[in-house]
Amino acid sequence: MALSMREIALFCVGVSVALLFTASEALVVNNARRQAPQKPNIVFVLADDYGFNDIGYHGSQIKTPTLDQLAKDGVKLENYYVQPRCSPTRSQLISGRYQIHTGLQHAILWRWQRAGLPLDSPTIADKLKETGYSTHMVGKWHLGFYKKEFLPQHRGFDTYFGYLSCSEGYYNHTKDWRDHKSWYLDLRDNNGPVYGKEGHYSTHMFTEHAENIINQHAEKSTKPLFLYMAYEAVHSPLEVPKSYEEKYRFIKDEKRRKYAGMVDTLDEGVRNITNALKQAGMWENTILVFSTDNGGQIKAGGNNYPLRGWKGSLFEGGIRGIGFVSGGALKTRGVVNRELIHVSDWFPTLVSGVAHGSLNGTLPLDGFNQWPTITGKGVPSARPYLLHNIDILYGKRGHKLYPHTWDTRVRAAIRVGDFKLITGQPDNGSWVKPPSDEAVPHGEVVISKENKHKNLWLFNITADPTEHHDISHKFPEKVKEMLDMILEFNHTAVPPNYPRPDPLANPALHGGVWGPWVKDE
Ligand SMILES: *[C@@H]1O[C@H](CO)[C@@H](O)[C@H](O)[C@H]1NC(C)=O
Ligand SMILES: *[C@@H]1O[C@H](CO)[C@@H](O)[C@H](O)[C@H]1NC(C)=O
Ligand SMILES: *[C@@H]1O[C@H](CO)[C@@H](O)[C@H](O)[C@H]1NC(C)=O
Ligand SMILES: *[C@@H]1O[C@H](CO)[C@@H](O)[C@H](O)[C@H]1NC(C)=O
Ligand SMILES: *[C@@H]1O[C@H](CO)[C@@H](O)[C@H](O)[C@H]1NC(C)=O
Ligand SMILES: *[C@@H]1O[C@H](CO)[C@@H](O)[C@H](O)[C@H]1NC(C)=O
Repeated sequence: MALSMREIALFCVGVSVALLFTASEALVVNNARRQAPQKPNIVFVLADDYGFNDIGYHGSQIKTPTLDQLAKDGVKLENYYVQPRCSPTRSQLISGRYQIHTGLQHAILWRWQRAGLPLDSPTIADKLKETGYSTHMVGKWHLGFYKKEFLPQHRGFDTYFGYLSCSEGYYNHTKDWRDHKSWYLDLRDNNGPVYGKEGHYSTHMFTEHAENIINQHAEKSTKPLFLYMAYEAVHSPLEVPKSYEEKYRFIKDEKRRKYAGMVDTLDEGVRNITNALKQAGMWENTILVFSTDNGGQIKAGGNNYPLRGWKGSLFEGGIRGIGFVSGGALKTRGVVNRELIHVSDWFPTLVSGVAHGSLNGTLPLDGFNQWPTITGKGVPSARPYLLHNIDILYGKRGHKLYPHTWDTRVRAAIRVGDFKLITGQPDNGSWVKPPSDEAVPHGEVVISKENKHKNLWLFNITADPTEHHDISHKFPEKVKEMLDMILEFNHTAVPPNYPRPDPLANPALHGGVWGPWVKDE
């Protein structure tokens, strides 16, 4: 048999082909497996609504010993961007594509919309599976579910256990219909709805499930593992077991105190997952990525100080994310990386950079392979610019300021090198300090004194990450150049897909459970 080492290693992956071989051939295969290093396991932990100022190493009042240590042992990403809200970030992580190219550029996916991440391009899970991974997802999906084809187990994940909508009760695992009165189960796995988990706190429940996946994988599988762990924590509703909240008695603001307790459970959950990987002997061959999905929601305990704005906003508080890479397989340690990296970059970075898989068959990706940047000290970002978003459905603001280019009334933002340009209505741009003790019980708010028709901002983010100094009047040429870029991007956009609520989505019509409601034509 004239097979290369690599081909033999690929052969080993998955089926126990050794059984089909003669004894001596099986020996060759076994030796090859020992010699050819297996592709690393990839564990991607996504936290929900986790604010920039809510992780220990950013100087937070909230302690996160596990996350701090993992980040310290790996690479902290300190010029890292996500999208301002949940489904936008998740859509870019899973597809590697900007929202203007998937039709998801407006708001979020609502659970009563006939919409979802388009089926026309493979997901990150499809690609990792294709290159030999066993793929599992736990937690929040939020990428559409009106037809079963849109569910995670049909988007490249071998197994799924989690919820489909944007958030739900941490204990009762239900989510309301549009009347805000009727609550329906939103918890399922590959086989359908999962009942009987009432009272099991979500952060514990999802962590335990992830531990089971890891243990079973270690026992039974010869493939590398891809685990997408999309925690519900720390999104609202503010629910947390008392013992975790107790540690933060000194915070008088109830929301902030509960939120701090929720962060504590998240940190403990990640500790348990890394322990499970270590005990299973998998840690040394694992790359762990940690990311938030958007800025913290200050109305639900989160905080992004000193950044401006919060969840939903195109100011940095909405989009500058917490992110780091760690794991036993990462050879780069103790590094703070300040290169521009975006959530859409994980697709090519993990599929190509980490797993050495092919990127064939996808529609054009907007992400870049940043593995050389993350692992090589001093390698610049592969990303020349970053389109934060263009949202033509958002309400217009002010007057068009520049002729023959992008209309500044329309919501958009782009980053080029040090510069970031925002147009239209960016959402609340206040600076909010965290509520702490009795001295600052609610957190001080510095409200921006800008005119409410203002619709153009240019910042040097490197010099002014807190966006106090709009310099658009100083650099009209730069502004024009960046407006032209947005216009050019807009030419490549597909129309936003934002359908009206569908009354047929009501779970009352489908056995009292959130799930697909449209059958194939
Ligand atoms: C489920 O939990 C949420 C959050 O605490 C709560 O608002 C809702 O009323 C609960 N639903 C039911 C049916 O108990
Ligand atoms: C982590 O593991 C410990 C020990 O088994 C357990 O008591 C704790 O509840 C777990 N925490 C989470 C968030 O899963
Ligand atoms: C990509 O290439 C691989 C290996 O050549 C092949 O098995 C796979 O089907 C291709 N995928 C797509 C989506 O074209
Ligand atoms: C952006 O593109 C859309 C089509 O996708 C078009 O309707 C709209 O007029 C364009 N907006 C601007 C400001 O050019
Ligand atoms: C922005 O948010 C702050 C804090 O919640 C609030 O006080 C202020 O009124 C808001 N400003 C606008 C313009 O909505
Ligand atoms: C932006 O600020 C940084 C840091 O002060 C500075 O080095 C850089 O030259 C500025 N960029 C531009 C293009 O002016």
